[in-house]
Amino acid sequence: KDRYAVVGNPVEHSRSPAIHAMFAQQTGQSLVYERLLAPLDGFEATLRTFVAAGAKGCNITVPFKFDAFALAATRTERAQLGGAVNTLRFDADGWVGDNTDGAGLVNDLQKNAGRPLAGLQVLLVGAGGASAGALGALIHAGPARITVVNRTLDKAEALVAGHAHLGQALHVGLAAATLADAPAAQDIVINATSTSLAGAASPVDARVLKPGSLALDMMYGPKAQGFLDWAAAHGAEPRDGLGMLVEQAAEAFLFWRGVRPDTAPVLKAVRQAIE
Ligand code: ATR
Repeated sequence: KDRYAVVGNPVEHSRSPAIHAMFAQQTGQSLVYERLLAPLDGFEATLRTFVAAGAKGCNITVPFKFDAFALAATRTERAQLGGAVNTLRFDADGWVGDNTDGAGLVNDLQKNAGRPLAGLQVLLVGAGGASAGALGALIHAGPARITVVNRTLDKAEALVAGHAHLGQALHVGLAAATLADAPAAQDIVINATSTSLAGAASPVDARVLKPGSLALDMMYGPKAQGFLDWAAAHGAEPRDGLGMLVEQAAEAFLFWRGVRPDTAPVLKAVRQAIE
């Protein structure tokens, strides 16, 4: 059986093995998918050992997505744009790095949440690795405008500057602002900051919402609860990051195996498992 894994630190709570096991069963693919804890100073060594044992690919999670980017011999365009790699395929002639996070987010919003992004006002909160991985895919979905807000304005501006050519080509307005200057009444608000790790509510004021807004936190479980409660209390539809997790996994599965799994039953099963 072909071997895959999710590599991270920590990694013990990762849902990816369960998700990929369901994909494999559903598509009749013969593979095993493990959890691999890499020491903070031993990511590359962990990968080399895994590849020597015959591994075909891996997903990469915190804090190694930038190391994975650096180690890839070639990268897909979307990985290049995001500056991070969450999926590696260990081809014989070199490791190929991809980033499926942005496509996962957009597929979850459009397909699972039923929110086509075309023409909408989107607020992306945060300008770290999670936002960088998502912005390109959000632009490709064709909203009217995406505003990136961040505690540190420089980082929001740099992220927007790096995507300016794409925004122009696809006629999507891009702007950067501080958290305090976040625009009001957005259709979609995406929390890509790590503030939810502290169980905090929202890094932006509730005026960014309007009735019918969708407010998504990229986290799931207790970490996302503060933000989701804040969204619901202000009349928005809350959505956690579980759908994004399953959708990015499906994109990775496609990248490795050439087959796209059906995510709906898998999202349902994972949802039941965490509740
Ligand atoms: P990730 O890879 O998860 O995106 P990161 O690259 O460390 O992690 O980025 C964390 C994001 O959360 C950043 O946008 C960060 O803002 P700064 O760029 O100003 O650091 C944001 N963040 C973290 N703690 C925050 C807080 N207490 N309030 C507001 N934003 C915060």
